[in-house]
Amino acid sequence: MLIIGHRGAAGHEPENTIQSFNKAIELGAKMIEFDVQLCKSGEVVVIHDFTLERTTNGTGLVIETLLTEVKKLDAGKGQQIPTLDEVLDTIDKKTVVNIELKGKAIAQPAAKIISNFIENNNWQTYDFLISSFNHDELFAFKKLMPEIRIGVLYEDIPNNFNETASALNAYSINADFNSFNKKIVTQIHSMGYKVYAYTVNTKEDRLKMKKIGLDGIFTDFPD
Ligand code: G3P
Ligand code: MG
Repeated sequence: MLIIGHRGAAGHEPENTIQSFNKAIELGAKMIEFDVQLCKSGEVVVIHDFTLERTTNGTGLVIETLLTEVKKLDAGKGQQIPTLDEVLDTIDKKTVVNIELKGKAIAQPAAKIISNFIENNNWQTYDFLISSFNHDELFAFKKLMPEIRIGVLYEDIPNNFNETASALNAYSINADFNSFNKKIVTQIHSMGYKVYAYTVNTKEDRLKMKKIGLDGIFTDFPD
């Protein structure tokens, strides 16, 4: 199974920070997942929650905070909230990246940065997998960069998942590991998609996912 570092190596280092991404690389993750959203001044920043409270010493909404203010915050162990550019510079093609789009109007600014890294920094289209629970953003992204792989994210997989996945010409179905069983995995595979499950942090669950045929797991402990 593909080991995907969830928010880097969030079990070891502060999630979605440069330290966490370096740790995931060090531990041998083959893909690294992280969450992106817009801040008030329009930059794409790497943070999971829409608010700053849980993961930093700041307060309020990310979308209402300027990058200059975002950069003053401690995201744990003295780490800053990184921008998407900084994270891609750090990972520098050492792993594939799964960029999870959070919030609205994020597809276009994210696509612009990804295009720039492909044109100027030698990244390949295959180095990226774009996912989101917000399928409107996935459709917007697909329009801008049809060659980049898409993972359709679900908490629970609905019966009609293939309508969305086929319309997006998706690469993978990504969902909570509790929503999978052998039958569903076989069905998704027969439709031609990879199957990735989050967030698998115990040996027991990992073995269970392997047994039912998962292609990859998101884990806070890539080791
Ligand atoms: O993309 C997999 C996983 O990260 C989705 O859930 O809440 O951890 O972003 P969340
Ligand atoms: Mg995520």
